Amino acid sequence: MSTALVRPVEPVVPAIARALPAWVYNHPEMTRLEYERLLKPSWQIVCHKNQLRRAGDFVTFEMGTDSVVVVRDAQGTIRAFHNVCRHRGARLLEGQGHCPAAITCPYHGWSYRHSGELLGISARDTFPPLERAQLGLKPVRMQLFLGFVFVCLAGEPPPLEQVLAELMQDFTAHRFEDMELLSEYVEHWDCDWKVAIDNYLESYHVPIGHPGLYRMCTPDYADQRRFHSGVAGGSSWLREQPSSRWSERMYQQMIGGVATHLPERERRRWSFYSVLPNLGIDVFPEQMDYFQVVPRGPGKCAVRGAVYGLPDERREMRIARYLGARINRQIQREDEWLCRRVQLGLASDSYEPGPLSSIEGWMLEFHNLLRERIPEARLPSPPARFS
Ligand code: FES
Ligand SMILES: [Fe+2]
Repeated sequence: MSTALVRPVEPVVPAIARALPAWVYNHPEMTRLEYERLLKPSWQIVCHKNQLRRAGDFVTFEMGTDSVVVVRDAQGTIRAFHNVCRHRGARLLEGQGHCPAAITCPYHGWSYRHSGELLGISARDTFPPLERAQLGLKPVRMQLFLGFVFVCLAGEPPPLEQVLAELMQDFTAHRFEDMELLSEYVEHWDCDWKVAIDNYLESYHVPIGHPGLYRMCTPDYADQRRFHSGVAGGSSWLREQPSSRWSERMYQQMIGGVATHLPERERRRWSFYSVLPNLGIDVFPEQMDYFQVVPRGPGKCAVRGAVYGLPDERREMRIARYLGARINRQIQREDEWLCRRVQLGLASDSYEPGPLSSIEGWMLEFHNLLRERIPEARLPSPPARFS
């Protein structure tokens, strides 16, 4: 018998999952690669179709150096274009609004139909003969899903109905298609977009970081499901025990009698869904919202969000929405505060990635996606070619 065969087998120690190294959260080359390899080739939510009711209603969406405009045309079709004039490139539209007749460039006045065709060229006779059909607004891939308008700037991600198919059973009763905008916001957070997404992806921090939410609901890590690669969700259930705070207690007491359009069980559920790389969908009995994070350079991000609800003017629904929004505003402030503190810690030379819990598993999946698309993210420090 050879000695090799009797040598005791060394115990297999599983590698401990750890977060990404600090440099990854604050490096211009990482941000550039994240745009190219993760964010542009993914579906990005822009708005709800009910924000585009009339021909000429538009909403713009900015991400990195790209700007997209979605607009309803005269035939009622929602279209998406690069928000870039075909003459010398001026940005055409800002924010959201209504352009009644056509999209007119604020620089020299070229105009475009809502369907994108070039309509008019100022001082037309000063140009050589032009192929008008070649100078329409450049289209962007667009998809409507559950009433929401999504765009994709590059690549071929699978259709949303494929990626989100298994969520449909959870969403159907809420009738997202019929919802209307209740409020929206854009916030600038002093942290890298990945810190904000890491935070959204794990609810390990809920008992400590969100005392109000924890008083009112069970933490969603106790009830989680993975639906599809990069798509997961968790449910927090309203506790029977009344919260010690009036707004939370009042919400707990009244919501069951207000959200009567939902099955009994759904009236006690707050659900949080994550869609990699940068989208969160929160579903409450009285409303829903999305939470989308886009980089603003390394170490900084913008959080875009909007809240939607079914048309309902009842006083009790207005109160439930007021309370829900109040509680969620507090949660958002807590998350921003926590994320800023992580970004500060990441800047310390002493930082090294600590071990992850099994209830930080969605976050680990996000990190593994980053490691797969950008292999340099595995390195403890940036490679020389990144400097
Ligand atoms: S850049 Fe738009 S008309 Fe000149
Ligand atoms: Fe949080």
